[in-house]
Parts: sequence; C-alpha cells; structure tokens
Amino acid sequence: MELPPRPKLFDFHGVSMTHYFTDNWENIQNFQARPDDILIATYPKAGTTWVSYILDLLYFGQTAPERQTSLPIYERVPFLESDFHILPPGTELADKLSTSPRLIKTHLPVQLVPKSFWEQNCRVVYVARNAKDNAVSYFHFDRMNQADPEPGDWNNYLQRFMDGKMVFGPWYDHVTGWWERKQTHSKLHYVFYEDMVEDTGRELDRLCSFLGLSPSAEEKERVRGGVQFDTMKNNSMANYSTVPIMDFKISPFMRKGKVGDWKNHFTVAQSEQFDEDYKKKMKNTTVQFRTVV
Ligand code: PPS
Repeated sequence: MELPPRPKLFDFHGVSMTHYFTDNWENIQNFQARPDDILIATYPKAGTTWVSYILDLLYFGQTAPERQTSLPIYERVPFLESDFHILPPGTELADKLSTSPRLIKTHLPVQLVPKSFWEQNCRVVYVARNAKDNAVSYFHFDRMNQADPEPGDWNNYLQRFMDGKMVFGPWYDHVTGWWERKQTHSKLHYVFYEDMVEDTGRELDRLCSFLGLSPSAEEKERVRGGVQFDTMKNNSMANYSTVPIMDFKISPFMRKGKVGDWKNHFTVAQSEQFDEDYKKKMKNTTVQFRTVV
C-alpha cells in the first residue's frame, strides 16, 4: 500500500494539530453524546489502549466474548476526532456503535471536547502519564506512525515537546486542564499510568467503584490477566498490528510498557533542563507525577 506523506502541524484554536483530527471538525463539535457514554480521555501515549481494553473487558468480556477475537480495539472504542481515511471517521464509528455503554476515546484537550459530553454529564476516565516517559513513548510512536509528523532526532523532539509543538498540544496544559476539570465535573476519574503499573488490581477496583460495577473476584482476575502488557502485546485485537500506517519494524505499538524508560533516553543535561522547565510550567497546579515506581 502506498503511504500518504507525513502531515504538517498547524495551529488550531491555539493547539497544534494535523488535518487528521480537524478535517471532520464540524461533526466532532456537533457530536451527540448519550448519558451513559464513557469518554476515555488521554494525552497520546499515556495508556489509552490499556484503559480502553480494561473497560471493554469489564463491560463486554462476558456478554460478548466474540468481540475479543473479531474486533480490533480501535473499532470497539472509536477515536472520536480521528479521520484517517482508511477507516470511517471516529464520529461515524461512534454513532454506529450498538453497545451500551458506548466507550469513546479522545486525545482532545479539555477545552475542545464536544459540549454534549458535559451536557449529558457523561463519565470520563482520564489517564495521565509522567511527562518524561510520555515524551519517550510519543517519540517512538512518531517514528513508526506515518500519520504523525516526522519526529526528527530525540534532542529536537524533546525541545518540541517542551515547546508544546506536538499533535494535541502541550502535555502540560493537557494534564493540568483535565485535572482542573475534576473540580467541577464530579464524574471524572483521573488515573495515573504509574499507579496502574504499580498495582493494576488496585486501580481496577478503583475504576469499578467509579463505574458502579461489582465484578466477581474471578471476573476481576480474568480482566487483570487479559490486560497484562505481554498478553496485550501478543493480542492482535489490542496491539494495533492490523493498522497499515504503522511500521512495527521501526517500533512496536506495545513497546516496553514501563515506568522509568526515560532514563534510557534522557542525558543528564537534558533531564536537568527538562526538570527546570517543568517546575515553571507546573507551578500553578496540584497534580503530582512519579517518574519512578
Ligand atoms: S495511543 O496511540 O495514544 O492510543 O497510545 P496509548 O495506548 O495511550 O499508549 C501506548 C503506551 O502504553 C503502553 N501500554 C501498556 N503499558 C503497560 N501495560 C499495558 N497493558 C499496556 N498497554 C499499552 C504501550 O506499551 C505504550 O507505552 P511505551 O512506553 O511506548 O511502551
């Protein structure tokens, strides 16, 4: 298959974007959420697929087991703002979902989320990952994913990350914007990737309590087992191996799944400079991240 050229970044309502996420903007803005929709919101590479898979198994693992072998995760959990041309746009996939609840993925910063999600008072699960590991994961993803701009070398990429010139804008504004929204939208569960790595079972319990679900111990164990990194990495319905615009020879989608891989990428000087800049950018927020567990 002939691959399209890499897209360019441009400013869209103050956020860096590519056309893949703005081409369908009118339908995105007018998207009609339903009260039982669950929005899975993240900055790219923070653990979206992991939490999507957990929710899919919790809701449909028993009632619709055939999904597990026939539908890739990106069709079970449509990516709302995407319009990649190789699949129907995310809004259309979401409209066509016959499940209840509908699970819907977004990377939009909080201020760009379609208003119907707030009007319908939908549940939101936001997943956040520490900036350093998030940047590393995004870098490797941009190397292998033809639908994002060319990442260039690591040093330039890191500078771009700090400048917020990434698809979906600055990590800093994203994680803090969603954190602030928690104050006014009580149906928002804010999860940290590091906590999920540290104790998936505990985070599963917290999620269930937020969602009002009470699976049996056996069912919970089945979900926990199904979403372990190695299991998901080998699961073609969860590992994105069916997407032609991603080159797994460059880097797999399920790459390492670790906390602290940033230490293998940041030099001491880069880390110090990053930390200094981080303190300034994050001085007005209470959200705290761990870069090791
Ligand atoms: S995307 O493209 O934004 O939807 O990507 P996203 O799913 O948010 O993030 C991908 C990173 O999450 C890691 N991942 C996991 N880690 C631990 N356990 C499980 N089960 C798991 N599933 C996905 C994935 O490996 C990517 O992180 P890195 O650090 O690149 O490995």
